[in-house]
Amino acid sequence: MSERKVALITGVTGQDGSYLSEFLLAKGYAVHGIIRRSSVDYRERIAHLEGQPNFHLHYGDMGDSMSILQVVSKVRPTEIYNLAAQSHVQVSFDAPEFTADVDAVGVLRILEAVRMCGLKDSCRIYQASTSELYGKVEEVPQNENTPFHPYSPYAVAKLYGFWIVKEYREAYHMYCCSGILFNHESERRGETFVTRKITLAAARIAQGKQDKLYLGNLSSLRDWGYAKDYVECMWLILQNEKPEDFVIATGEQHSVREFAYHAFKTAGIELEFRGEGMNEKGVCVAGPERLIGKTLIEVSADFYRPTDVVNLWGDPTKAKEQLGWNPTKTSFEQLVSIMVKHDMKKVAADHVASLVRTNLAEYLEKGVVK
Ligand code: NAP
Ligand code: GDD
Repeated sequence: MSERKVALITGVTGQDGSYLSEFLLAKGYAVHGIIRRSSVDYRERIAHLEGQPNFHLHYGDMGDSMSILQVVSKVRPTEIYNLAAQSHVQVSFDAPEFTADVDAVGVLRILEAVRMCGLKDSCRIYQASTSELYGKVEEVPQNENTPFHPYSPYAVAKLYGFWIVKEYREAYHMYCCSGILFNHESERRGETFVTRKITLAAARIAQGKQDKLYLGNLSSLRDWGYAKDYVECMWLILQNEKPEDFVIATGEQHSVREFAYHAFKTAGIELEFRGEGMNEKGVCVAGPERLIGKTLIEVSADFYRPTDVVNLWGDPTKAKEQLGWNPTKTSFEQLVSIMVKHDMKKVAADHVASLVRTNLAEYLEKGVVK
């Protein structure tokens, strides 16, 4: 492997991109990230890294081959982590063409840029693949040999990404591989993914800022890990002697209902689930007086998908044995606790900030402060 340690991360502003940047900077890499131009500069997850001498940002878009080519030729990375994607499964039903362009053809754009820049023998490529490939699962738990059965436009696009990476590995002997990652969450998780939606709502309900939480399929099963632990694995996959694909998971499975139960409990609210299907409700049975007996969770058809993946459970044996990775560094209970504690503080801080803003506006109006 090369002495230079130059990483290019697409999707650097995302949950994983931000943790991976921190991880690689700590390992002495020069880290370059691709960002999209937006009318509002929303780069909260990486704001603390901007200005560091080894951290550089470049404008580009996964839908724009020229911008990708330009960045790859300028940076000449030794490792590329292709994390950029339209990553929300439900949104992929509303925007299937965009999802296919970014999540499928985007992967091809990266591979071709590396070839065109003459880096095919010196640059290793990690592709952010997904357990969604198993979709309507054909086997439980799922490992590297489980057949794929994608079950959403997102998963179908990611399947192309998986196969084109395999194809370039075989056809051009490039060091490129896929991490088949199961769901991983954190306090930086996007707010419309189910775990973060739940932890934020639990914190808001506990602090009197929200009355109820509406969810979709409560019985859906996931293998949830901690994102901070998973980015280490992305790096380990690229340090392996040979380019190979790996399943990254905890090996433990929980339902959305269980996640909600634990999250609310951490926020000081005990729930009991009553009823079934669309009529199921989460009722408060212990906790703050004002909430006892109230329905805090209801099911809404809005959050059901035309086809849903309901039984994901990964077998991380290969990653454990070959990469020496520890899949249970952070337990399910610890993950829930990290997220809820973070969101309890966030909701309290947002409240104080809004009070300050309101009072400041009043003082400015009255001329108390100028
Ligand atoms: P995320 O938080 O949604 O981040 C996605 C990133 O992709 C953001 O930085 C986003 O930029 C960028 N992006 C989207 N469209 C783009 C485009 N057209 N051009 C350039 N950048 C674009 O996702 P994540 O949870 O960190 O996941 C990272 C990757 O792993 C994704 O590929 C996802 O599909 C895959 N994955 C995630 C999980 C999981 O459980 N988290 C599991 C398996 C696989 P903006 O900030 O500008 O939107
Ligand atoms: N988002 C969401 N919102 N999901 C809900 C809700 C809700 O209100 N109620 C129930 N669910 C169910 C979904 O139907 C799904 O079965 C499960 O909760 C998890 O949904 P998400 O958190 O949106 O994640 P995902 O599993 O669809 O996709 C994530 O994980 C994939 C890996 O398996 C994303 O990060 C993908 O990018 C990633 O590939």
